[in-house]
Amino acid sequence: MKITKICCIGAGYVGGPTMAVIAQKCPDIKVTVVDLNEKRIAAWNDANVENIPVYEPGLADVVASARGRNLFFSTEVDKAIDEAQLIFISVNTPTKTYGSGKGMAADLKYIELCARQIARVSKDDKIVVEKSTLPVRTAEAVKSILDNTGNGVQFQILSNPEFLAEGTAVQDLLAPDRVLIGGDNTPEGQKAIQALADVYGQWVPKERILTTNVWSSELSKLTANAFLAQRVSSINALSELCEKTGADVNEVAKAIGMDSRIGPKFLKASVGFGGSCFQKDILNMVYIAKSFGLNEVADYWEQVIIMNDHQKRRFARNIVQTLYNTVADKKIAFLGWAFKKDTNDTRESAAIYVADDLINEQANIAIYDPKVSSQQVLSDLDYLDSRTHEANEKRAVSYDDPYKACHNAHAVAILTEWDEFTQLDWQRIYDNMQKPAFVFDGRNLLDGKRMAEIGFKYQSIGSGPRC
Ligand code: UDX
Ligand code: ADP
Repeated sequence: MKITKICCIGAGYVGGPTMAVIAQKCPDIKVTVVDLNEKRIAAWNDANVENIPVYEPGLADVVASARGRNLFFSTEVDKAIDEAQLIFISVNTPTKTYGSGKGMAADLKYIELCARQIARVSKDDKIVVEKSTLPVRTAEAVKSILDNTGNGVQFQILSNPEFLAEGTAVQDLLAPDRVLIGGDNTPEGQKAIQALADVYGQWVPKERILTTNVWSSELSKLTANAFLAQRVSSINALSELCEKTGADVNEVAKAIGMDSRIGPKFLKASVGFGGSCFQKDILNMVYIAKSFGLNEVADYWEQVIIMNDHQKRRFARNIVQTLYNTVADKKIAFLGWAFKKDTNDTRESAAIYVADDLINEQANIAIYDPKVSSQQVLSDLDYLDSRTHEANEKRAVSYDDPYKACHNAHAVAILTEWDEFTQLDWQRIYDNMQKPAFVFDGRNLLDGKRMAEIGFKYQSIGSGPRC
């Protein structure tokens, strides 16, 4: 079966970049990305390609190369489903905020709605691909909906989890470590797997395309994210011990990372991991383990989250303690709000929680992030529901210039590792701050020695004993 028409439901951080790269690499395939959110689709179609809603290095060029040729963004969901032979489901699967499994299980209502819509609209056989990260056995639920509510047409369900990391999405999509496709071990299932493998095969080397059964594929995605998050929590746990003992976490990370069995990646101590995946996927795994009565397994993985919450909280607490136990009405400048550099995504960003803790202490937060809008900052704080929108507006003010954000501040906190922060004129920032001028480097981004020479009271994560 040769695929010539693809539809992707969900034009977010996963669907948008993934489909743009497929369209660029497969000019013979018409790729239509649909979303219910009209504003989002309008932004993907913006005449100025720099205004697309997802910021990723290199993405605007990829979109520009294919948009209008074989890449289309639309709100006509039914039409795109009807036309396509292969449908990616790339909608959001947030953690449930209500009912059973609240705070842990994935909320599958958007997935279910998609499945029902596909069943209603489809008039010929389709391959349906789960792209969103999903709990194990979701494919079975999707299959049951499609088979029981459809028009008698045949559906093949594949799991094809996305491993791209934000900030490096284009690079990760162009040269993936692996592409994973899970499907049924039946002749039809194998044909569907092959059809999807042939799409990727247009630019990904064959040996990097792995095929498994559906459940292994679903669980591999959760496991990969759990292992990565666990490394961050492990090094962050050590960072607190380093601060007490006088060891330096960067030196420890380097020393252990040179052991080829451990490897050097994902050992950067930080203010805590964020992003839409790590916490959600681990909570999901914890929920699944608990539902099978595997309490030790659940507790083991839950500790990764507990450690991460602790790391965010102790960063905020340390700021308060260092500023003579009060930050009330003091100006604290935040450099960075995104959950990592090179993205405009703020979901679960440590900055949100640190700001919330400091606002509880009545601090005034002055934010500068090169890619995050003031509306996004306020919407992130409002989502926590800690206080009214007006109170957040009063306490959290965004600036489009880092020097203005830092002007007259009692302290600067670095929350995101944007490269441009290393290039700032730190002498100028120092000259315009309240004294003593404190810097809390939540990303170990700056040269501590230089900062001290300028006159800053500089603290990073995991180095030097703290009283
Ligand atoms: C992650 C996975 O890497 C990716 O494969 C999956 O598809 C989605 O989830 P993402 O969340 O986009 O990707 O970014 P990632 O680079 O994994 O970073 C996640 C968080 O961990 C960020 O907040 C980052 O700053 C933090 N982190 C990462 C650290 O604090 N230290 C590290 O050493 C690495
Ligand atoms: P991700 O990071 O997984 O891509 P996003 O939240 O960035 O998540 O994107 C998911 C997108 O899916 C959103 O833009 C949302 O509007 C869209 N979406 C959710 N449900 C549906 C649906 N039933 N039909 C079309 N689009 C949907």
